[in-house]
Amino acid sequence: MEPQHNVKVMIKILLVALHCRGSSTGSNRELSVPMGSEATLSCVFDRQSRPVEWSDLTVEWNLVDKQAGKTVVYTFEDGRAHVNRGGSVVNETRLRRSDASLQLFNVTVRDEGVYTCRIITPVVYTESTALEVLARPSVLLPVKAAVTEGEEKTLQCDITRFYPEKLTVTWLIQNGSNTVHAGLNQLFRVCTELAVHNPDGTYSIRSGITLHSSAVKNKEIRLICQVEHQTYKHLYNTSVSVTVEAPLQPLYSAATLIAVTSIISLLLVTSAIGAARYFCKAPPSVSEISQPSIIYAQIPTNLEITVQGATQRHIKVKWFKLVTGSDSAVEPETTGSLLVAEDLSEKASLQSDGKRHTSVLKVCLTVAEDLSRYRCVVQCRGRSFSRETTVKVKVEPSFLQISSIPQIPEVERLLVLCCRVENFYPQDVHLEWSRSDGEQVRTVTHFGPFPDHSSGLFSVWSKIQLLMAREDEKAVYTCRVYHSSFPTPGYKDVRYHINTQGTPPDVMFIECDPSCPLVNEEVTLHLCIKDFCPEDVSVTWTKDGESLLSGVFNTPPSLNINGLYSMFSFLKLTLNDDDQSSRFRCRVVHSAQKEPEERFFTL
Ligand SMILES: *[C@@H]1O[C@H](CO)[C@@H](O)[C@H](O)[C@H]1NC(C)=O
Ligand SMILES: *[C@@H]1O[C@H](CO)[C@@H](O)[C@H](O)[C@H]1NC(C)=O
Ligand SMILES: *[C@@H]1O[C@H](CO)[C@@H](O)[C@H](O)[C@H]1NC(C)=O
Ligand SMILES: *[C@@H]1O[C@H](CO)[C@@H](O)[C@H](O)[C@H]1NC(C)=O
Repeated sequence: MEPQHNVKVMIKILLVALHCRGSSTGSNRELSVPMGSEATLSCVFDRQSRPVEWSDLTVEWNLVDKQAGKTVVYTFEDGRAHVNRGGSVVNETRLRRSDASLQLFNVTVRDEGVYTCRIITPVVYTESTALEVLARPSVLLPVKAAVTEGEEKTLQCDITRFYPEKLTVTWLIQNGSNTVHAGLNQLFRVCTELAVHNPDGTYSIRSGITLHSSAVKNKEIRLICQVEHQTYKHLYNTSVSVTVEAPLQPLYSAATLIAVTSIISLLLVTSAIGAARYFCKAPPSVSEISQPSIIYAQIPTNLEITVQGATQRHIKVKWFKLVTGSDSAVEPETTGSLLVAEDLSEKASLQSDGKRHTSVLKVCLTVAEDLSRYRCVVQCRGRSFSRETTVKVKVEPSFLQISSIPQIPEVERLLVLCCRVENFYPQDVHLEWSRSDGEQVRTVTHFGPFPDHSSGLFSVWSKIQLLMAREDEKAVYTCRVYHSSFPTPGYKDVRYHINTQGTPPDVMFIECDPSCPLVNEEVTLHLCIKDFCPEDVSVTWTKDGESLLSGVFNTPPSLNINGLYSMFSFLKLTLNDDDQSSRFRCRVVHSAQKEPEERFFTL
């Protein structure tokens, strides 16, 4: 690789590294903006007045959302901008004057999170701003309503499209000059539903109040629906005036009158009961969609939702996978109109213990399906609850090792260690070298992460080199690999022990398959030779002192995560009568041994 390219690669790795650590050294600001408006996230670096050279400049804006998911929003590299979130801009005129502030247009709830700019000029500058998005609810309550004498009436306050979710609804009764809480009065029943999550990320909620005509004193009463939400400076009040109206007057002949009124009153009674039940049974509680903390590609995984407070026959659960029209991973969040929903309800199963009903959707995803969105809709007694989740797919590196050149280090010669991390997903990875005696590891060169386009996976190599000194003997180098596919603590260590003497093999005992062979049957003797270095080893078999050449097969030595090699040696033969008492010997010779090792076997 050319040196210049190396520097670029290193800068990229540095970016990834800083990114992985998630820390920031710049100032931390906070910004609240209304949904749909424009936000400017500040990033002013290098306050000297000279104009910036495009070729020296790298800008990266990234976002850590509320679920701790990281996305790159915008990058500027080699004089070119790459915009991942539609409607985000860094003004290039201002960028020349060291102002990399990011403008976001049409801000939605999904834009919320901590934005960090990283500037490399090549001096590194970072600045972070926490962006909060607010949506003020619209509150709908009729201005006037009437309750029929002797009957009940339910009034509904509809509070829609607000964010964040925290919101309180209170009903108040205005009686002359004093106002009282409706919850304290037995003539009123209040029922507030759980908030519903809208596709645009906002929430909606309904609250109902049921009153009997006898609660209306002096022919008129005023009910106030009072809303408390972060977007209001004070409490927000809206009111309805309720009057009592006389029951239906007879208009027909006596005979039809009896029939009609009985039907009407029957209808009224049932609808009143229906309304009362509708509002006064507590609404069922529907959990968020739960998923394992790490979802691996090609491994079946369950998405689950739990419903409580309803009987199983009243519940209907539907599952959808949301597919965007375009196949770009970062979706410029519109109102959701581009979404196509694939109905997966038939693949889900409902488990119930009488009280808790759990709907399980089994998914098995590929890397290409990373960031898939799933929606679950629970229908229960005429209401609908919608929950959504985004699924992130991970692949653990299939190869994680340190290889060395030369295999056995020599004093006063160069030793190159290469930490190879291969076939992982997603791309973000961070490698850290350390040495057991705490001495700093300098001159680290990273290669990659480079993609493998056929599998969609990534690989990275990290190389260090040192001039071996006598004091380095027995030192241990650790390459710590941080990747989101690793379970807690989120990293894995690969070690390399400096050992100029080499490591002799650990020779196991000879085993025979099958263990009790018959005459004329084929048998295989095998010997495991473990944990040696360097990889050169000689293995020879003899039968009653005579060398055996045919039937012997040695596996190539394979490098273990501990930096040492292991192999197997096989001897295959067909049993003769005279083999019954034969003595087989296997001899292992390695440069780090004091003397060769031998193992014997008699059939
Ligand atoms: C960029 O900033 C300059 C200077 O503030 C301003 O004159 C110009 O209109 C801006 N360009 C855009 C596209 O907003
Ligand atoms: C913002 O959204 C409106 C309509 O929702 C659209 O007309 C406008 O082009 C959008 N602006 C940007 C900068 O995306
Ligand atoms: C309204 O106030 C009057 C007296 O001030 C009281 O008798 C009546 O019960 C109150 N009504 C309600 C609905 O609280
Ligand atoms: C709503 O009513 C409460 C008291 O009930 C009062 O403190 C608040 O100022 C009122 N808000 C508005 C916007 O009138």
